[in-house]
Amino acid sequence: MTDTTAPKVLVTRRLAPGVVDRLHPACDVRHHDSEQPMARAELLAAAAGCTALVTTLDDTVDGELLDAAGPALRLVANHAVGTHNIDHAACAARGVAVSNTPGVLTEATADMAWALLLAATRRLGEGERLLRSGRPWAWAPTFLLGLELAGTPLGILGMGRIGQAVARRAAGFGMPVSYHNRQRLPADLEQGARHLPLDELLAASRVLVVTAPLTARTRHLLDAGRIARMPAGAVLVSMTAGVVDEEALAAALASGHLFAAAVDNFEHEPAVPAALLAQERAVLAPHLGSATVRTRQAMGDLAVDNVLAVLAGAEPPTGVSPPPTSAPPSSP
Ligand code: GLV
Repeated sequence: MTDTTAPKVLVTRRLAPGVVDRLHPACDVRHHDSEQPMARAELLAAAAGCTALVTTLDDTVDGELLDAAGPALRLVANHAVGTHNIDHAACAARGVAVSNTPGVLTEATADMAWALLLAATRRLGEGERLLRSGRPWAWAPTFLLGLELAGTPLGILGMGRIGQAVARRAAGFGMPVSYHNRQRLPADLEQGARHLPLDELLAASRVLVVTAPLTARTRHLLDAGRIARMPAGAVLVSMTAGVVDEEALAAALASGHLFAAAVDNFEHEPAVPAALLAQERAVLAPHLGSATVRTRQAMGDLAVDNVLAVLAGAEPPTGVSPPPTSAPPSSP
């Protein structure tokens, strides 16, 4: 039977098997056990009296939600590495800690960046759509030609954990790597990659992978003007919603300036801009970066570890300090 005097914890989404059960002995758990996000009104009502909220990127954590939760609230444990759904100042003003799930999703997300990079450069989406359409086709020396990655310069915007994991994989393709970050990394983390100012990185990147987190500073950092600085025939892979202006990306594909592009998550999910859907050379994935069985288990467990630590009076193991709003891209 549920102990109604136990701290209340709201989990806003279905998590990996067994994760929510770890909360049960210590907490009075309210669980929205669904693959769909909670409606706002439902979220506000369910948060009332909670000590911790386990949220996803679809839950806007702002002053209204924090006030609806009330003074018992001590932690917002986001089930994501990103925290752009959270108003950090509003949390800090109410003494509410924020945690995320870094580290455990690095390799899965870097794999996905490479899956998209290969799919975009080798025109896999176009090929698959053609076969599924039932239209006639024939192998031909000039049919669906793509770009080769071996030896091609790779740029990484946001050389944090995920960017570094993308760079490690580039060694297998013999690709020289450049990156842009707020600060130059120590040599061991650079792995031989060149640190460049943003505009130089764009000009040097035949293929560019964007892994910088979304902050006030990075929102639409890659707008039409910056995409135009990439070499003609370049390929852009976006792993963070909102850093690349999606309309500008679609326009750069439509004009033929970019050879291809791939996007893993979108600024206004689940909406995908019609202009991008219309582009044959856009590979579009429904936010699958961390979507592996192992990683989603680890993300769930880490979110719960943060809740249990805070309930025990400790610091959250992966607490987040408010991100800078005026600095150049940082490291996810
Ligand atoms: C993105 O999916 C994240 O985990 O921030």
